[in-house]
Amino acid sequence: MFATNTPSIHQIAWEEIEKLGGLAPLQKIYKLVIERMKNMDIPLPRLDSIRGALVDKTTGTGRRATGDYLFERVAKGVYKVIKDGDSFCVLNESSRNLNILEDESVHAVLADHPWFEPKSHKSGNQKSFTQDYAEETFRYTIEDFKAKYRVLVDGGYLVENLPAENAENTEYLMNIRQYAKEAGFHFYALVPWIKHRVPNNTGRTQKDREYLIFWTKNKPRRLAPIGKPYFTRTMLPSEFDISAPARKQHQAEKPKELYKRIIDLITEPNDVIVEQFGGSGNSAVAALEINRHPIVYEIMEKFSKKIFNKLKLASQFKLSLNTKNTNTNYELVFGEDGQATLF
Ligand SMILES: C[S@@+](CC[C@H](N)C(=O)[O-])C[C@H]1O[C@@H](n2cnc3c(N)ncnc32)[C@H](O)[C@@H]1O
Repeated sequence: MFATNTPSIHQIAWEEIEKLGGLAPLQKIYKLVIERMKNMDIPLPRLDSIRGALVDKTTGTGRRATGDYLFERVAKGVYKVIKDGDSFCVLNESSRNLNILEDESVHAVLADHPWFEPKSHKSGNQKSFTQDYAEETFRYTIEDFKAKYRVLVDGGYLVENLPAENAENTEYLMNIRQYAKEAGFHFYALVPWIKHRVPNNTGRTQKDREYLIFWTKNKPRRLAPIGKPYFTRTMLPSEFDISAPARKQHQAEKPKELYKRIIDLITEPNDVIVEQFGGSGNSAVAALEINRHPIVYEIMEKFSKKIFNKLKLASQFKLSLNTKNTNTNYELVFGEDGQATLF
């Protein structure tokens, strides 16, 4: 597509966005393009010129070599390269401040944060924990919720996955609710996820469920048909009754089907979904499969690479099915080795 030897801003931006999965926030694109140009000793452009390269629709060298536009704006400050197949964004960095996202630029935030709970983490349930992401656990502060609030569109949903309450975490769970409220969120609903599998129980009750709290930024977006008493696309169920994956690729992996249900309830096709704590990547694959644009953060490189590969495969499968014009109602299942099988 690009003919000359000295790469243009368009070419560099295209390549850098592609490396993330074809979709990227503008602030990230600025950073990557400038880094590349510094490394190549090319005179640095003004940020305006980079933005201009993404949105300029006049003819020019390189950018319209195929006769098509190269980039498309997906949401405020979020751009994708125009290509066959789905676009997604995998960021191997911390999601806690969400600085590279503009205010009111995303339609939903999903978060299954790796909570710091030293006593539970020592139990038999958490044997593999130390080899997995133990060093990446933390406790939220009010700043986490302010960041989520800032990036959401008015009425957008935040869905937090929280552990079952116990003597160790009861105060922290109360704090989380307080932080959300202080940051400006409105409580929407609490829905248990019944996961069925109850591995090596310790403690006082069977651990067969977790909890999902739905909050909205101000008054919820109305995604339901006019006249319905709820705001989500259909009414939220009283519980999500979906079995946890039998064989996990990530210690904290939640089922893709659970995420599909949630994302479908709180967003519309083409919306931008931010997954703050990628893990297995199931939420991002779910988003892609139902035509949303996922931006997924994962701080650990080994997981972020897996997520990238999973999303790429999911996008390729979707594309091949669409090209053959067959039934697109498929299920892509990933084995422990990361290989995909189509059902
Ligand atoms: C509880 S797991 C998420 C599991 C995910 N919901 C799933 O279904 O697979 C949390 C993940 O967040 C990652 N993580 C921890 N701190 C992070 C941070 N500050 N930013 C982004 N990712 C982080 C961990 O490496 C871990 O993979």
